[in-house]
Amino acid sequence: MAGLAGKKILVIGASAGIGAGIARRVGAAGADVHLAARRLDKLAEHVDAIRAAGGRATAHACDLESGASVAALFEAVARDGEPLDAMINTAAMLWLEPFATQTEDAWRTMIAINLAGAVCATQHALAHMLPRERGHILHVTSTAGALAIPYLSVYSATKAGLAHFLTAMRGEYGRSGVRFTELQIGNTGGTEGGGVVHHPPGEDGIRSIMRWTGAPSMMNVDDVVEAAMYALSTPPHVRLDRIVIREVAEIPT
Ligand SMILES: NC(=O)c1ccc[n+]([C@@H]2O[C@H](COP(=O)([O-])OP(=O)(O)OC[C@H]3O[C@@H](n4cnc5c(N)ncnc54)[C@H](OP(=O)(O)O)[C@@H]3O)[C@@H](O)[C@H]2O)c1
Repeated sequence: MAGLAGKKILVIGASAGIGAGIARRVGAAGADVHLAARRLDKLAEHVDAIRAAGGRATAHACDLESGASVAALFEAVARDGEPLDAMINTAAMLWLEPFATQTEDAWRTMIAINLAGAVCATQHALAHMLPRERGHILHVTSTAGALAIPYLSVYSATKAGLAHFLTAMRGEYGRSGVRFTELQIGNTGGTEGGGVVHHPPGEDGIRSIMRWTGAPSMMNVDDVVEAAMYALSTPPHVRLDRIVIREVAEIPT
């Protein structure tokens, strides 16, 4: 993956799951990788592994729920004066449960992290990329956003909202040289699963999910990382707007 050598790449949500997988792979490809999430101890494990393999990596504590924390992250990433080539955001949380009894805290948290946090990070990334007329912004969304899955109602809405936001970004800035990719993914094992399913969904929830997915089939983190690496390796004159990657057993739409 020679194209990423020396590139400065920020991965938000890099302490676990798909974000950690992407961070390690871009680090192995020679990028100067900046890993962000709330848990510094988890980030440090990935930073150590990247450095032990001869790569460059830095950990940053950041909470996407806080605008000040996101601003501080971008300031820290810019401190060495080198331009930011790509921002990848994989951070999200989900609650799988009926909406009528979902706590306000749960649904507000999903909107705050999955949508508002993603929008906030995009605005900061643009401030770095637009003056250079170059940069790549990639957000991980979900087939839940496209399908609107029962018992994942607010989560689905945040991912659909993020997908629409990215479409609008291409309209506003598509000619600027900054590129926007939506990596829309299906069930993926080997992650913490969006903070784990916080409230057991019960029989109804499980039946609902099974109706959509057909079988408890999963991709793995590497499958998704491959797709992200392909997107990140496209040359600056290529727009890759959306990748949809999901397990074969998912609903055939
Ligand atoms: N796994 C799946 O089946 C699946 C399916 C469809 C879509 N997706 C999407 O794929 C992406 C990655 O999912 P995953 O399964 O790899 O999740 P994961 O293993 O739970 O990892 C989520 C990451 O987001 C970070 N994060 C959560 N809240 C944050 C906050 N407030 N500020 C900063 N970072 C925060 C977590 O780090 P800290 O806790 O340290 O902050 C963690 O690094 C998500 O956008 C998810 O919606 C996943």
